[in-house]
Amino acid sequence: MSNRKRALSLFIIGAFVLCVGAFSSSFKTTQAQQPSPTAQDDREKLAKTPATTGTLKDRLGKDDGYAATLFFSADIGGNLEVCGCPIRPLGGIARRLGYINAFRQRSPDAATMMVDAGHIFSDETGESGDLNADAKLMNDWIVRANEQMELAVVNVSHRDLKYAQRLFAPNAALKPEKATLISANIQAPNISIAPYTIKTLTAKRLKKTVRIAFIGLSELPPDNKKEVIAKQGFTFADPVETAKTTLAEVKNKADINIIVGYFKPGTANKLAMQNSDLDLIISYDERGFVHDPKQVNNALILYASRQSKYLGELRFYADANGEIERFTNRYVELDSVIPDDPAMLETTKKARAEIGIVQQRMAEEIAAAHAAKGNQTSLYVTSETCANCHQAEYDKWKQTRHSHAFTILETKNRAFDNACVGCHSVGFQKQGFINIKATPQLAHVQCESCHGPGAEHAAKPQKGFYKTPSTPSACIACHDRENSPDFVFDKYWPVVAHGKK
Ligand code: HEC
Ligand code: HEC
Ligand code: HEC
Ligand code: HEC
Repeated sequence: MSNRKRALSLFIIGAFVLCVGAFSSSFKTTQAQQPSPTAQDDREKLAKTPATTGTLKDRLGKDDGYAATLFFSADIGGNLEVCGCPIRPLGGIARRLGYINAFRQRSPDAATMMVDAGHIFSDETGESGDLNADAKLMNDWIVRANEQMELAVVNVSHRDLKYAQRLFAPNAALKPEKATLISANIQAPNISIAPYTIKTLTAKRLKKTVRIAFIGLSELPPDNKKEVIAKQGFTFADPVETAKTTLAEVKNKADINIIVGYFKPGTANKLAMQNSDLDLIISYDERGFVHDPKQVNNALILYASRQSKYLGELRFYADANGEIERFTNRYVELDSVIPDDPAMLETTKKARAEIGIVQQRMAEEIAAAHAAKGNQTSLYVTSETCANCHQAEYDKWKQTRHSHAFTILETKNRAFDNACVGCHSVGFQKQGFINIKATPQLAHVQCESCHGPGAEHAAKPQKGFYKTPSTPSACIACHDRENSPDFVFDKYWPVVAHGKK
């Protein structure tokens, strides 16, 4: 269809707007830990933007006569759940499927399909270089969830190999059946990875079956990962060169040619420039940037959003003969306006319970190893020690949510999740907090989370020797864009203010 004219439009639905629903509903199941109404009011006062009044119908957009829709994701990294941190958490598999269900219900006579552009699996490794036990389990659950929601295509990126290797093994315990794993430029001896897959779309709105060739491509691994990946037995061919030969292979086998890729900036453009029989590139930019959709040569290039908090929705329109003649793209904000798919929510909960047990066991092992090393002098003394000499600051701190910032992780069953604990504790990965079993005294955001290790100062207090953090840089290590999207120093500081300012 390369000579046909294509129209393209992009809507970002309700991006970055406050959703009070997300906030209150996330607390409904956790009554015991619910913050006092005043604390919640305080938090809402800190929000930059007012609440939205969006509905599921708004999210679905208009039925403009599309014949088929391809939903695309990437960068799931083994996580089934909504990103729980900010005031309005986004994403999660149950919501994603909830949206797609509603979409299908609205237009049952149109076809739908789901694809993933890469880094769907967690690649968290321990000191040994092996995949962590919790990461392996998270990934097993991703495979099950993929089957459950009938994800059609998964592009294997260099970040997925640590785990995907198991899936390719002939005697694998877990075998994806509906989700086809593809990669045209990754090879390993004794393992066959499909370079491409051809899927068909049929629907009442389509006069004839549409065949789509999906070609999987990954960027080459970065230099610091090359050796590890080579040791696993994988070799990489250049993605741009590989695309040419693979496109030649699918010639005449499909009506639409799509590359699904995990790329460095520039690679997608190069692919489009050098391959005129390419129709679409569905990609993920390694850095997490979502570039505007762009027509390059004959291909439309689209990017999936970071952690798939916004679901990519690519609509296909057919002409009177049933030929696909154009595409439009939009991103759907996966916030609490969208109902969870009940079955997938069950899966998510089951997964979380199992993962929690493994993470707890890992934490206990680490705690035991830590205890075996004997009494080490710590760089950190905890807020209780500071209180001996700074009672006023301590009393103030006690009233802020910093003083119990770890509790929310326990409520959410994430107390052992290294992806979460760092900003909800003191000195994580800086010789401070290890995990809640090993170093319970360093849970919560304490004086030393901002002021830095205080043992030396507490032992020999002197004016001018213990740094007072320069502001707001002391905050944004934790109050970053992802986890504290409303952060503005002048609004936040007064809530926790002490000292001179
Ligand atoms: C980079 C630092 C960082 C990481 C990593 C992080 N958080 Fe947070 N979290 C914060 C900050 C900062 C806030 C406060 C945001 C605000 O109020 O603006 C917060 C707030 C929260 C809240 C809301 C608390 C409340 O009382 O309203 C929850 C829930 C939460 N985090 C859970 C998590 C979970 C679960 C993870 C792991 C998936 C996580 N956090 C990882 C920094 C982080
Ligand atoms: C959220 C980060 C944060 C936490 C937590 C925090 N502080 Fe501070 N603290 C600051 C900042 C920022 C300043 C500097 C304010 C200024 O410039 O006047 C400060 C100032 C101070 C000062 C005054 C310094 C001066 O020059 O007058 C003291 C004393 C102090 N903090 C003690 C504490 C103690 C004790 C705790 C724990 C009970 C604590 N702080 C918790 C960020 C923090
Ligand atoms: C044994 C008492 C003692 C303890 C314990 C102690 N401080 Fe201090 N702190 C002092 C004294 C004394 C000063 C100097 C005050 C002055 O002269 O203005 C001081 C000054 C400070 C200052 C201002 C530094 C400066 O150069 O102006 C900060 C910030 C501070 N303390 C934070 C903390 C924190 C955080 C802790 C816990 C980790 C802590 N202190 C523990 C006694 C103590
Ligand atoms: C070590 C990570 C960390 C640092 C550093 C940090 N915060 Fe926080 N902050 C958090 C977390 C986590 C929460 C959410 C706690 C909760 O709601 O359970 C939070 C919550 C807050 C809140 C809401 C508190 C309330 O009582 O309503 C304010 C305001 C805030 N932080 C201000 C600041 C400011 C200002 C700084 C810098 C001077 C700062 N924070 C530094 C992690 C951090």
